[in-house]
Amino acid sequence: MSEGNIRAAFATQATWCRRLGGTFTADLCMTLARVLDRSTAVGARVLDWSGDPIADALALRLVGGLNGLVRAGSLPELAALYPPQPVGDTADFARRAAAALDDKRLLPWLDSPPQTNEVARSAVLMPGLMAIAAATVLPLRLFELGASAGINLRLDHYRYDFNGMKVGPNEAPVVLHPDWRGPPPPDAKVVVVGRRGVDLIPVDARDADHLLAYVWPEQIDRVARLSAALAAFVADPATIDAGDAADWAEANVTVVEGATTVVFHSIAFQYFPVATQARIVAHLAAVGASATAVAPLACLRFEMDAAASVAALPTLRLTLWPGGEDRLLARAHPHGANVEWLG
Ligand SMILES: C[S@@+](CC[C@H](N)C(=O)[O-])C[C@H]1O[C@@H](n2cnc3c(N)ncnc32)[C@H](O)[C@@H]1O
Repeated sequence: MSEGNIRAAFATQATWCRRLGGTFTADLCMTLARVLDRSTAVGARVLDWSGDPIADALALRLVGGLNGLVRAGSLPELAALYPPQPVGDTADFARRAAAALDDKRLLPWLDSPPQTNEVARSAVLMPGLMAIAAATVLPLRLFELGASAGINLRLDHYRYDFNGMKVGPNEAPVVLHPDWRGPPPPDAKVVVVGRRGVDLIPVDARDADHLLAYVWPEQIDRVARLSAALAAFVADPATIDAGDAADWAEANVTVVEGATTVVFHSIAFQYFPVATQARIVAHLAAVGASATAVAPLACLRFEMDAAASVAALPTLRLTLWPGGEDRLLARAHPHGANVEWLG
């Protein structure tokens, strides 16, 4: 990969950040694209990157590392220009960003991809559970694939405002109020009788600082929401197993009488190897073939459509067995900021 391609990848990341409202992080990516050089170990490692900088989310690895060190109080010079402080003079910002690259504590952050767990996706998934509860009139057993720290597995513990329809406990640690378009979701009570998740590398919810480093620092509401959701998870955890999603689904997902078995995933399927994806689809079809009205199976997915352009929004889709009917329920912002309900 040429140095020009690496700098271009930082500029591309800046465009995506700006589109998602991450103005500061976009400016940081553009600044890094300019100031990276081989005078520091960090700069040399980035500019000599042998993999695909886009697929490896290289810019977000470095931005996450800088944010992690800023949050830990280790880069006070740069921190002085971080949100919520007003953005400083561009030349000054570039000088401080360049100086920060001299910090070798950034190197381990380049070793692994950004780890995220976006709790506002619960505002997309929860109406999906309401649609499943309305269709099956049974309590739900939840199985999450690619669960990260697992905070979306506790989605029934959060409070929602879906265009005036209030759902969930009054005293919830997390309150989500997406910009709702279209008709309301089905007004069905969601009762969860089991929950368990899997992730290739589960994130320890007790290590909040690590996950918080990957939340763009200008998104102050997201930082607050994630902190609250992680604290609630630590107080009342769900089991997140370490492993491959297909191995785990084959070992754990089967139907039982008296409850709807719900397999769900959000912005995770695209990261699974193709063989894992195929095995999950095959296993659900096989289990679905044995589903009955008193032992149904649901697969709820908030994911990018395979053939979608980068500008397209992810969709919420539901397949219900017996029958295997497929429904497009919603389109939504990738971080759950808005939901267009199509139900
Ligand atoms: C972008 S994160 C999304 C996390 C979470 N679903 C959310 O919406 O916040 C994707 C997750 O998929 C996990 N993952 C990737 N490959 C996997 C696999 N083969 N099996 C299980 N999890 C996997 C990653 O470790 C990561 O935590």
